[in-house]
Amino acid sequence: MIGTDVARAASLLQKGKLVGIPTETVYGLAANALNPEAVAEIYRVKNRPTFNPLILHCASIEQAKKYISVWPSLADKLAQTFWPGSMSVLLPKSSLVPDIITAGSDMVVVRVPNHPLTLSLLQSLDFPLAAPSANISNTVSPTTALHVESTIGNEIDYVLDGGRCHIGVESTIVAIQDSSVVLLREGGITREDISGIGLAVRRNTNKEVQSPGQLKKHYATSKKLLVVNSINEWLSKNRNDNAIALLYEHKPVDCPFLLLSNNYNLSEIATNLFYTMREADKSDVDVILIEHVKLEGIGRAIADRLNRAATT
Ligand code: TXA
Ligand code: MG
Repeated sequence: MIGTDVARAASLLQKGKLVGIPTETVYGLAANALNPEAVAEIYRVKNRPTFNPLILHCASIEQAKKYISVWPSLADKLAQTFWPGSMSVLLPKSSLVPDIITAGSDMVVVRVPNHPLTLSLLQSLDFPLAAPSANISNTVSPTTALHVESTIGNEIDYVLDGGRCHIGVESTIVAIQDSSVVLLREGGITREDISGIGLAVRRNTNKEVQSPGQLKKHYATSKKLLVVNSINEWLSKNRNDNAIALLYEHKPVDCPFLLLSNNYNLSEIATNLFYTMREADKSDVDVILIEHVKLEGIGRAIADRLNRAATT
């Protein structure tokens, strides 16, 4: 069932049930993070491998600190600047965090999401919420309550409807190493946003920090998705394929298309990305075509999701 009743969502969560929750990035599948049986249900419903840990969603910086054993000043700077928001930080967990949240690791990822309904839900609870994206593992993340209801609605009692997610791609995940910020997943907060507040930021190049969810194949559509240099060039060489194009701007193409933006606005493209991938997936085609996106700002998070959705 879908609705906007925060008290009802809270009461279900208190009883150890799962609830779909809106965030500014994507919808989450939430459970009481301090109740290991409830959290185990998340893994079952999502068909998620148990080695892949979950993000802890908190109401405030103060609440987050209860679940972290060492809180460096850099974490303070990130939290003060970007919370509530799409910045998730990997930090040493306190003993209050059950092992099932972190898949046995002594580190936990925390964030304060920026969505009014979910913030008021979190404020009404005396526990944080464990919440991965509310999709079945390896499929496209949901950006509407209906996406959640139509895929896992029969497994959960309630989806809190907060409208369409306005960021549209998942949060940025970072670790803190030797006084710099290490990017584990590109997302809603860009590298430029982080360096813009005077912090050194680098990629997790030699995999100095482990993040089990960054598997190569992820976010897949059921139809074949190809990331190409030129859609028209691809179409001219593959005349027998029935294709739909996803476009970053108005542009003539020789096949049906869906627009991600009118004028190559990267934020708008991110907002519409998963939604439009799902729409394309429903259409009667063999292949979904999209061109490589500009690698700047949130474009890097878009490119990451496309590369991992692509059929190679
Ligand atoms: O925007 C988001 O972050 C959404 C919304 C619902 O908050 N959540 C989300 O969760 O994307 P999920 O589970 O789909 O992705 C979380 C990622 C996974 O790749 C997981 O491996 C990584 O975070 N992660 C979580 N806890 C970790 C830990 N303790 N150590 C390393 N990686 C961790
Ligand atoms: Mg996910």
